[in-house]
Amino acid sequence: MNGELLGVRDLKMYFGIRDVSSWFGPRRILKAVDGVSFGIGRGRTFGLVGESGCGKTTVGRTILRLYRPTGGEIFFGGTDITSLSEGEFFPYRRTMQMIFQDPFTSLDPRQTVGEIIGAPLSVHKLVSNRAERNERVRELVSMVGLRNDHIGRYPHEFSGGQRQRIGIARALASMPEFIVCDEPVSALDVSIQAQIINLLEEFQDMFGLAYLFISHDLSVVRHISHRVGVMYLGNMVESAEVNELYGNMLHPYTKSLMSAVPAADPIAAKALRRIILEGDVPSPIDPPSGCPFRTRCREASDVCAERNPRMADAGAGHMVACHNVTA
Ligand SMILES: Nc1ncnc2c1ncn2[C@@H]1O[C@H](COP(=O)(O)OP(=O)(O)OP(=O)(O)O)[C@@H](O)[C@H]1O
Ligand code: SF4
Ligand SMILES: [Mg+2]
Repeated sequence: MNGELLGVRDLKMYFGIRDVSSWFGPRRILKAVDGVSFGIGRGRTFGLVGESGCGKTTVGRTILRLYRPTGGEIFFGGTDITSLSEGEFFPYRRTMQMIFQDPFTSLDPRQTVGEIIGAPLSVHKLVSNRAERNERVRELVSMVGLRNDHIGRYPHEFSGGQRQRIGIARALASMPEFIVCDEPVSALDVSIQAQIINLLEEFQDMFGLAYLFISHDLSVVRHISHRVGVMYLGNMVESAEVNELYGNMLHPYTKSLMSAVPAADPIAAKALRRIILEGDVPSPIDPPSGCPFRTRCREASDVCAERNPRMADAGAGHMVACHNVTA
């Protein structure tokens, strides 16, 4: 596993769903994640980008075993955790945590900040008595920039940014090694976003945390990530080290996606704007044959309808899945 903390190999997560118009009809298969591979080393951030519905959250939730994967393998610290029973997986519930997009719904409104942050300490038996637990809660609250007098208050008494700090403290309480950050700043004002990103970076440096950082915001992902993966319709279509990816986009979808971002440089912006994404994302219930992007790709040829290109190294670990890109 090349010393990776997290290794994801050919991960598949399919959901059986029923058409709302025919509850008694046959179940159909929705391929939310359809063969995704990547790895994350300790102290590193892997940014995951792609349009809404491409499967980013499902990747994160499947790694954390909130879903049982349909196929593929997940390794953590060199151990295959894909098929562990809930009991066997329990220790990993401590080391693998999640920070959610919406700090308004992810915190229980009936619990105080102290109860929210203290819960993982008790569940994972990280403290031996109430005094120790209270002391640790005070430490965590201070680490995320909140005050002692916040401990007895309820989530509704806080701003969005403060709630996200509570969410981060809860995630850090169990001393994790890996955190899925699912759009952690998307719901926040721009000025607050930077504070939360700085906090996440600070904790990464302090504790050597690995992050899977999911976001729509390509500039935030560029800022925080060491490596970036681009998803389209349940597939990973390109991944590379951050500067390589943003400086040398190879996949037609990545180029289109990035061209939708307003660039600071007007000349670059003009060049990029020539590539526009046309048409809607196809349904993951009925994806196109061959390459998933072919219905919107200007470079598509006959082979693209026949075979889904596999991810291949185009040089120095820059992985691309496109019939038109070769090493
Ligand atoms: N529990 C579920 N049951 C059935 N379908 C699901 C479930 N969770 C997600 N899906 C479907 O799987 C696909 C991927 O969803 P997912 O939430 O992972 O996308 P996403 O990339 O995180 O999107 P967004 O950017 O909007 O958050 C979507 O078509 C979604 O409707
Ligand atoms: S494989 Fe074909 S359809 Fe897919 S991105 Fe490449 S050129 Fe476009
Ligand atoms: Mg999502």
